Amino acid sequence: MYIYDKILSYMSKQTKKYTTKTVAPGLAGINQAAELIKQGEVIAFPTETVYGLGADCFNVTALKKIYRAKGRPSDNPVIVHVASTEQVHDVANNVSETAKKLMDHFWPGPLTLVFEKKKDVPDIVTGGLKTVAVRIPQHHVAQAIIEQAGVPIAAPSANLSGKPSPTTAQAVLSDMDGKISLIIDSGPCEVGIESTVLDVTGKIPIILRPGMVTYEMLSEVIGQVDRKASDDEKAKSPGTKYSHYSPNANLTIIHGPQAAISRHILIKISADAAAGNKSGVMCYDQTKRNYSGSVISLGSQYNLKEVAKNLYEAFRKADEMALTNVYVEALDDKNEGSAIMNRLMHAANNQVEEI
Ligand code: TXA
Ligand code: MG
Repeated sequence: MYIYDKILSYMSKQTKKYTTKTVAPGLAGINQAAELIKQGEVIAFPTETVYGLGADCFNVTALKKIYRAKGRPSDNPVIVHVASTEQVHDVANNVSETAKKLMDHFWPGPLTLVFEKKKDVPDIVTGGLKTVAVRIPQHHVAQAIIEQAGVPIAAPSANLSGKPSPTTAQAVLSDMDGKISLIIDSGPCEVGIESTVLDVTGKIPIILRPGMVTYEMLSEVIGQVDRKASDDEKAKSPGTKYSHYSPNANLTIIHGPQAAISRHILIKISADAAAGNKSGVMCYDQTKRNYSGSVISLGSQYNLKEVAKNLYEAFRKADEMALTNVYVEALDDKNEGSAIMNRLMHAANNQVEEI
């Protein structure tokens, strides 16, 4: 991670070619963003999930700028953001009845659907796949920019590859300063983690990435849903094969009965301290009083929407604290907890201690 950070920081010095402006989400900012997109530039804009780095989805030169700004491998496909269900047909073929039901029910919102792609969607959007991922974001600023630009907007999360997705304009700026010309600052994102990605090209829809539109919510609307992508299906979503954000500190998830978790973490922290290492904990409002020192509460453990909203800022905070180890209290792997545990598991490189 250290060497990777160094390479990214070297690359960022080499490519500091823009003066990055942060503007308010008013009419002037929206018009400016839409104009830049029409001119083939890249801008950062808020969505309800995380900030996105957007460009005209039919302009290959503009799309290359996204990959360059992020330092992202170009076979990792990006999500196309549209402003209406009609616009889906500009990029996708064979929109099934099941997909229509899902669009009716969950759009605009944090659900991305993977369809068969139209021929004129450039390969750079889809990483060479025959499918395209599409969603209508719920954020009014995102919708206004797509409408004004008059084209679907391809947008990955607005972080450097390997960093957490940004949920504030400040986080975008810290990753993208000098790499893009405009950031629209609309405050913190409401949802806080990336959209659910659901492949609807087959008979039974498959969750490729869990999100706050949960397995349980999807099943209630369309019946059968496959929640665990097989290795074959994972290969269909190349994003899953690249290393995700992992914090500077060594992250371990502690799973077990609540009282035992806190006891276990306290023992680990004092053993670390005895060895001269500074450790911290990510916990919840209900458990934070069990600890002292470097304690980051993710919010109430009974309000998983709040926990998701706080998660990536907590990751960034932990990096700033320069800790050797961070211990995270596990959540139940169901409902919204599944999406949060998925991000924690990636960040922890699947390191879980069962107690
Ligand atoms: O909430 C979100 O989804 C945010 C906001 C900006 O909309 N976007 C986002 O984009 O998280 P990104 O590029 O960071 O993640 C896109 C995910 C990746 O895991 C990628 O592999 C998957 O979607 N994906 C994109 N196109 C795909 C396709 N055609 N088939 C399967 N998976 C696809
Ligand atoms: Mg991303």
